[in-house]
Amino acid sequence: MSTRDALSGRVQLQHLAIGSLIQWGDHLSVDHPGIDAQHRAIFDLGAGIYDHWREGRGIDELRPTVDRLAGLIEAHFAYEERLLAEVGYADLARHRAEHHSLLDDLAAIRERFARLTGNDVSPAGSLLAPGWPVMRFFLEFSVGHVTSSDLAYRPTLAEIRDYVQGTA
Ligand SMILES: [Fe+2]
Ligand SMILES: [Fe+2]
Repeated sequence: MSTRDALSGRVQLQHLAIGSLIQWGDHLSVDHPGIDAQHRAIFDLGAGIYDHWREGRGIDELRPTVDRLAGLIEAHFAYEERLLAEVGYADLARHRAEHHSLLDDLAAIRERFARLTGNDVSPAGSLLAPGWPVMRFFLEFSVGHVTSSDLAYRPTLAEIRDYVQGTA
């Protein structure tokens, strides 16, 4: 196998790995229909962002997707924080701080996008492609937050549900 083939194989493997990280599935369920539906909608958008990045589409196409992502994420974080406050989640302050940090990162990306023009010819699927910062943000959200911090409140929601239903 030539170095070139080996490298392209490695890149394909990387893409396979990233593809599986941004796919919503039952393993990510927090067992709350409202939150699960919101997470799923955000992950669906993430799959589109992944395609943008891989295909190296320009900034003008990315901008509306990122605006939509920001709208969904802002509404979702507010909903989630309200719910966690209602159930008296003990780790709410840290959870909220993570949300704020993610929102700051997203705001920085949108500010940068506002300054970029549509003539960018960076290589598709590379760290230089305009979609990469959005992709990296999405991985922070999915792998860095949902799979750890969001799944961590699942037992609290289950306890409250059992209590309300009288099965605890
Ligand atoms: Fe969260
Ligand atoms: Fe969440």
